[in-house]
Amino acid sequence: MKLKSQIHSFVVAGFSVLFAAQLAAAESPREHLSLDANWKFHLGDDWPHALHLDKAGASSGPAAEKSFSDTSWRTVNLPHDWAIELPFDRAADLSHGFKALGPGFEKNSIGWYRRTFDLPKDDEGKRIWLTFDGVFRDATVWVNGWLVRRHEGGYYPFREDITAAVKFGEKNVVAVRVDATKFEGWFYEGAGIYRHVWLDKTAPVAIAPDGIFVYSQFKDNVPAGAATIQVEADVLNTLSKTATADVNCEIISPDGKSVAQFKGSQQVGGGTQATLKLQSKVALPEFWSPESPKLYKLVTTVSADGQVVDRQETLFGIRTVGFDKDKGFLLNGKHYELYGTCNHQDHAGVGAAIPDALQEFRVKKLQEFGCNAIRTSHNPPTPELLDACDRLGMLIMDESRLLGADSENLKKWDDQIRRDRNHPCVAIWSVANEEFAVQDSPQGASAAVAMQNLVKRLDPTRPVTYAAPEGDTFAGINGIIEVRGWNYHPGPDMDAYHGKHPNQPNVGTEQASTTATRGIYEKDPTRGYVVAYDEPPHQWAQSAETWWSWFADRPWLSGGFVWTGFDYRGEPTPYGWPCINSHFGILDMCGFAKDNFYYYKSWWTTKVVLHLLPHWNWPGKEGQEIRVDALSNCKAVELFLNGTSLGKQTMKSNSKLTWKVKYAPGTLSAKGFDEAGKVIAETKVETTGAATQIQLRPDRKTINADGEDVSVFTVAALDAQGRVVPLAQNKINFALEGAGKILGVGNGDPSCHEPDTFIADVPVRSIAIDEWRWKLTGISRNNSVVPEYANDFDDTAWTATKANDAGALRIKTTDTTAIYRAHFTLTEEDLAGSGAQIHFGGCDDEGWYFVNGQLAGESHDWSAQPAFDIKKLLHAGDNVVAVAVNNGYGDGGLKPPFSVEIIGKPSAPQWSRSLFDGLAQVIVQSTRAAGEIKLTASADGFAPTTTTVQTQPGKPRAFAP
Ligand code: GAL
Repeated sequence: MKLKSQIHSFVVAGFSVLFAAQLAAAESPREHLSLDANWKFHLGDDWPHALHLDKAGASSGPAAEKSFSDTSWRTVNLPHDWAIELPFDRAADLSHGFKALGPGFEKNSIGWYRRTFDLPKDDEGKRIWLTFDGVFRDATVWVNGWLVRRHEGGYYPFREDITAAVKFGEKNVVAVRVDATKFEGWFYEGAGIYRHVWLDKTAPVAIAPDGIFVYSQFKDNVPAGAATIQVEADVLNTLSKTATADVNCEIISPDGKSVAQFKGSQQVGGGTQATLKLQSKVALPEFWSPESPKLYKLVTTVSADGQVVDRQETLFGIRTVGFDKDKGFLLNGKHYELYGTCNHQDHAGVGAAIPDALQEFRVKKLQEFGCNAIRTSHNPPTPELLDACDRLGMLIMDESRLLGADSENLKKWDDQIRRDRNHPCVAIWSVANEEFAVQDSPQGASAAVAMQNLVKRLDPTRPVTYAAPEGDTFAGINGIIEVRGWNYHPGPDMDAYHGKHPNQPNVGTEQASTTATRGIYEKDPTRGYVVAYDEPPHQWAQSAETWWSWFADRPWLSGGFVWTGFDYRGEPTPYGWPCINSHFGILDMCGFAKDNFYYYKSWWTTKVVLHLLPHWNWPGKEGQEIRVDALSNCKAVELFLNGTSLGKQTMKSNSKLTWKVKYAPGTLSAKGFDEAGKVIAETKVETTGAATQIQLRPDRKTINADGEDVSVFTVAALDAQGRVVPLAQNKINFALEGAGKILGVGNGDPSCHEPDTFIADVPVRSIAIDEWRWKLTGISRNNSVVPEYANDFDDTAWTATKANDAGALRIKTTDTTAIYRAHFTLTEEDLAGSGAQIHFGGCDDEGWYFVNGQLAGESHDWSAQPAFDIKKLLHAGDNVVAVAVNNGYGDGGLKPPFSVEIIGKPSAPQWSRSLFDGLAQVIVQSTRAAGEIKLTASADGFAPTTTTVQTQPGKPRAFAP
């Protein structure tokens, strides 16, 4: 459909009429349904020729609607990342964390997903939309055998109006072939449908996808007085006649009061989309900020020709952002230091498939050390991360995947901006990261201009940057970008650049790259561990103290983003195999704090901090000197070993303190003093005893019974006095009972090759059907049963043929029919399995399939490999399959191989994980049943320990059955 865009402007300030927007909810035909649950998944491209472009709706194999059975495929819920399930392999890509995926591992790199969904007959007349928030990587999507979309790239959302392909009043099949053979980034990227999938139903005249844009404005971008609220509503009319769309807007304040109502009207031509611009005011607005993330809600109700056709709620914040050449980042008109971290989308146990509740867990972990901003390096984020940041108060630098002014890249960038621009957390857009090949060139600048211009067109409220790994360089992108981004280079280059280009604002897009392994204080290249003292590991990196003290003294730099908040798989700098994940995080893969957590907490929060490192278990090192650091924001710190003072030192701002201490077991303790010399903090590190118990600590004791929520358990080894034993590496087994399941396990060890997830093993017995008898004869084409299908039919006079003699099974003349018969034997045990399928190598051109005289299915595609579920048709002993075949053209008939696959009962996997430096993590997810989840941990030499989490009936997300 060709859409003509008409922009009309309609300005109405402060309508006094109260609109019944809330009441209209029930009348709105819009439904936003999750398609996350109950997908079937198969790893491997066993159907490389499934895509048919000769005729519409004619794709084969799993892409086909009928004549394909996916019963033997594994059931998975989204988000799903199959890369996490693969083994590590030394021959695999280092930067992606040595998972057996990508180049050289083609067999593991293509996966198929299938799901059915019902569409009631009543939905006829509605538009049906399918939205993928993100798939890694290239996706081919069919609905009912009809190709509806091919999408390249692993990070951008894509959406399709599938109305033409769906069937109302019937089951529909969506099939997705995901090809992760090629990488995009240089870090772990996952594989599969790792974000949510949605089915939306709308009226023919409705709000267009991502069709609401709401933002606040103030004179000079400084909040004062009432906020001007701008709304742009795109209305899509898929009918062929013009519709009059009435758009009613209501703004609900953070405390639930209706604070503004306004409306407008718009003629929308048939088959077009039109934008209606509206404006209103909110008096005495409550501002959004990380410290006080107040959210307003815009309720948009659209009526067409007098009937409510749509209603949508959009959360937004009233706030301003800006970057000033002298004052740096401005939030609500005031200097606001960015305490940022860059992060990839990767967590222990789940990889890139991060449940929404885990997004929230991660944001809160970052906030614990004062982080107030995330850079979504180096790709568009998952929308639910932005939701969590809106709610919890975390700013976002929203980054594209790639620099480029080609139409495809600009379309993706356009989609990203439209999707994300209502989020108050988004403070700045980043057009790209470290485009070494082109950044200094006029071509690079030209592409960045195109991307920057697009931002300006779609979002008048936010600035644009580029993450430049350069010093005092103005050529190329730096010369045209609104805000100069600094990847590394703290030092004279920054001052020199600032001196030469005093009117350009700056931001530290990426800094530090400090490496640390949690709990490790002696370098160990063999095991792939670096020390957790704040040491710069390589030439482009800096210690936390080096970069931060440089930035802290220069407000015009706006603060910056540490590489990284969390560790991630891949980039095991400075090592290679066996090290499989990065050491850059302030937190490890699980979110356990490394020592630098306390450095940042000291200087990024106003809480009193006093932390000592290392641990104090050094048997065999008695009398040897050990470096002890105090990370603190106290004015002075005094250190003690077993009660004896080792001296008091004064703390410089943004710094840390170090002692050399001769080791003796016992207690290392410290006192922190304020300016007046008063003790304001005390801490200690003790030599622990051996581990005697396992502790299980859930981050949340009650979660929602919605099949999505998670509780994150910390597993710790404690000594007899309840202290975490810093060196414990025990292997722990986990068992779960009740209303939940284990999603994944981890321990933060960058060199651990234990699985993050355990998958039930499903035994399959394959019975080859080799002996056939067949005869050219008339057939019934209407599935009615004829005597030739009966088990006791005497076929001894028919031609006997072996399956491996394919030629002898062929029907050689056009427009000829035949019946084929064969026997197979089953045991009682086979019948007790979880499923049974019959598979054919092909049927040229059409077949009607009967097992024991009952219909199993039919096929009408000569190039497909028909397979049918036949469990219900089977019995122990002798079974008979009979196929009536029509060869419509040329050579035809049944094609080998033929088999019956008996699918056994899945065996429950035994979950386990070793502790790393005393800790491990288990991520537990609810089911949709309310009740208790009991997690039990056991290990050699320890009594088992059980901890429970309750799941409460909540409001599960609406989903498509
Ligand atoms: C940066 C890059 C990041 C990461 C980091 C490691 O240059 O932008 O993606 O590779 O180096 O230090």
